[in-house]
Amino acid sequence: MTMTHRTILITGGNSGIGAALARALLALGNRVVITGRNPDRLAAVLADTPGLAGYALDVTDPAALADFPAQVLADHPQLDTLILNAGIMEAEDYTADPVSTDVADRTIATNLTAPIHMAAAFLPHLRSRPQAALITVSSGLAFVPKAANPVYSATKAAIHSWSQSLRHQLRDTSVAVHEIAPPLVATELTPGQSKVAAALPLQDFTDEVIAILSRDRIPDEVLVDRVGFQRRAEAEGRHAAAFAAING
Ligand SMILES: NC(=O)c1ccc[n+]([C@@H]2O[C@H](COP(=O)([O-])OP(=O)(O)OC[C@H]3O[C@@H](n4cnc5c(N)ncnc54)[C@H](OP(=O)(O)O)[C@@H]3O)[C@@H](O)[C@H]2O)c1
Repeated sequence: MTMTHRTILITGGNSGIGAALARALLALGNRVVITGRNPDRLAAVLADTPGLAGYALDVTDPAALADFPAQVLADHPQLDTLILNAGIMEAEDYTADPVSTDVADRTIATNLTAPIHMAAAFLPHLRSRPQAALITVSSGLAFVPKAANPVYSATKAAIHSWSQSLRHQLRDTSVAVHEIAPPLVATELTPGQSKVAAALPLQDFTDEVIAILSRDRIPDEVLVDRVGFQRRAEAEGRHAAAFAAING
């Protein structure tokens, strides 16, 4: 399976990792369709990048999500690759009184419920394509959590687990399941993150991901070098040290 001559839908394709992957996959000769929640940012990316198609979609809006698959598949019946990238990351404080669950609720809705619903809606179509791919986006924090972002880290651990089970269930179908687990990357996922010195530059991350996606056999987990620190921490007996390094 190769990542060329495909029709690829990327959620959250109007900024950060999603927009960078959209541009890179377009340059590889794919048809690329993005979604974004913020219509102005979506319009700006579409204006900047001729050849991209796009739709405004809030993945947490059940009504919009229900209508979306029929609309996008009518416009792009060749769609064979779905990248479930949209996500949010916000802090939570379980020492507050009262403890608010607002962040937890919207994080689960965006990072976990929405990908599940998108996959459910698109899998019957993907299975009808001869070579299809469902690509999830987890995080290094799936493997070693960031304590300031408990539910964010937990949703990414859930995405990792869910991806493994989907891959197994779909093993005899035309749909390959891959998981991209980014390390800290310089985007505005959290305010100011794009300026953090320790963050992997977005272009470097994108180049490394595209190189992995361009291999003859794409691995189940798409891991850039930098994320090995978290991904292999448990297996290498370094989990407590990695947790301490991330959480200070
Ligand atoms: N950057 C990192 O360090 C890092 C590390 C590990 C994993 N990740 C994961 O990578 C993915 C992309 O993050 P990023 O770093 O590129 O951050 P980003 O620039 O903030 O991009 C997030 C994208 O998700 C979209 N989104 C958020 N809520 C949405 C909703 N309710 N409906 C539709 N779209 C929504 C945003 O759209 P709007 O702009 O329109 O709101 C935006 O396009 C996320 O899943 C994130 O968890 C990132």
